[in-house]
Amino acid sequence: MTTHSPNKTQAWQALESHFEAIRDVHMRTLFERDPQRFQRFTVQFEDMLLDYSKNRVNEETMDLLMGLARTARVPQWREAMFAGEAINATEGRAVLHTALRNRSDRPMTVDGEDVMPGVRAVLARMREFTEQVRSGAWTGHTGQPIRHVVNIGIGGSDLGPLMVCEALRPYGHERLTMHFVSNVDGTHLAETLARVDPQTTLFVIASKTFTTQETLTNAHSARAWLLEHLGDESAIARHFVAVSTNEPQVRDFGIDPRNMFVFWDWVGGRYSLWSAIGLPIALYLGMGRFEELLEGAHAMDEHFRTAPLEQNLPVIMALLGVWYVNFFGAHTQAILPYDQYLHRFPAYLQQGDMESNGKSVDRQGRRVSWHTGPVIWGEPGTNGQHAFYQLIHQGTRLVPCDFIAPCRSHNPLGEHHAILMSNFFAQTEALMCGRTLEEVSAEMRAAGMEEERITELAPHRVFEGNRPSNSLLFERLTPRTLGSLIALYEHRIFVQGVIWNVNSFDQWGVELGKQLARTVLRELRDPDPVEGHDASTNGLINYYKRCSGE
Ligand code: F6P
Repeated sequence: MTTHSPNKTQAWQALESHFEAIRDVHMRTLFERDPQRFQRFTVQFEDMLLDYSKNRVNEETMDLLMGLARTARVPQWREAMFAGEAINATEGRAVLHTALRNRSDRPMTVDGEDVMPGVRAVLARMREFTEQVRSGAWTGHTGQPIRHVVNIGIGGSDLGPLMVCEALRPYGHERLTMHFVSNVDGTHLAETLARVDPQTTLFVIASKTFTTQETLTNAHSARAWLLEHLGDESAIARHFVAVSTNEPQVRDFGIDPRNMFVFWDWVGGRYSLWSAIGLPIALYLGMGRFEELLEGAHAMDEHFRTAPLEQNLPVIMALLGVWYVNFFGAHTQAILPYDQYLHRFPAYLQQGDMESNGKSVDRQGRRVSWHTGPVIWGEPGTNGQHAFYQLIHQGTRLVPCDFIAPCRSHNPLGEHHAILMSNFFAQTEALMCGRTLEEVSAEMRAAGMEEERITELAPHRVFEGNRPSNSLLFERLTPRTLGSLIALYEHRIFVQGVIWNVNSFDQWGVELGKQLARTVLRELRDPDPVEGHDASTNGLINYYKRCSGE
């Protein structure tokens, strides 16, 4: 596959010239000039509407961005991904999370082998197991049905299942309470164990590698806690299951491989909720609902694979992101779900996006001379409005925002949803339109304010506007819609990675800290002061040793 420096291409240079022409054009003007702007810049996928008309683009911008996608060979890379080619070159792996949710009878192959029979076999095992737990047929060591599920995992082995279980709470099993322990800080586990009963608790130890320090430490402590309460090694088989690619390590830990659910190295950790890593989701929602989630993602995969680039939601969103990062110099991207159930969605996307595209060398290992992934952040509306929106409206930085909301709430309580949505619409409008000095002054004048005071206050009350946002609306947050929404963002990340010519599927950047922590842990066990680091690290470690009494 040919690769490129995107900023050396003609497509990029054409965008640079175009940027000079459009950078100071206000979106208000764009809307005034084009009565069809909403129709022109909206796309629908099933019940999901993407309105990207409140972006600093015109038709020429979109054409040029599409040109950039073609120059970067997005269609060819997309084909390579779906074909199971080893596009994660630094790890020599295919990237085939789309196979996990392939609901068609099309084979999907890695090294010439169809992976679909294996995928279906694991789904069948998940169905069998989750039905037993949910029906109460699977009992704990003392014969009681399971009431608490504690997932122990971190990163992709935590954030996806946690986010989905939270997002789909209305579909949750009433007997089951879900808990997620990720942090190696003992507080996380201790606080969780204080809320559960060992007799009715099932631990899911989720780790692709089964070597992750945080997860194994938590898992060992959970195991010790269970044995302390149930006092019998044979209890492990009724209270511990594992999800991993690493059978020997699972066995070493003491979990019978019959209680293990497998997945494969062609599933990246942050793309793994569709695999057996989704076991907590399937336990909580039931396998039928889990499969609806897969179906929603598959439908988005089909859209991404087959829709023309101009009508393709992930491609459009990816290109808009590139437009702001590389031409407007935006550093961040805000994710603003107007749905309390999606409160972990921004955190989930932080890993998805930042671990994927937080890279500074290209696929050939050369230092890039263009910016790559932005900082992803956000909180649910309307809480964010009372916290950080001030900066988005009036700060000196450009923050592109994704507003996400269902048209119908799972909790239709009085006027709550209308109030919530009125805020959604008002915010996108205010960000786009802003309020001019003349408007602000006229308003104060009408309120009877003196001219001197108006002159003083007006600059503080001016909103420049011209702040871009995407709006994503769908009917209701169902498993299917959520599946599509997650897949939409996964493919947006993929397209951006292709344009930036980075490998979105490795994460070497997390290794150095892990290695150093192992050395420091050995030193913390030793009572003597340390000397081998830089002065700051030595000083901090030695202060800690004195303070903690270690
Ligand atoms: O943070 C690095 C990472 O490798 C993530 O990519 C991954 O999701 C997480 O650690 C957990 O890894 P594992 O599932 O192997 O425990």
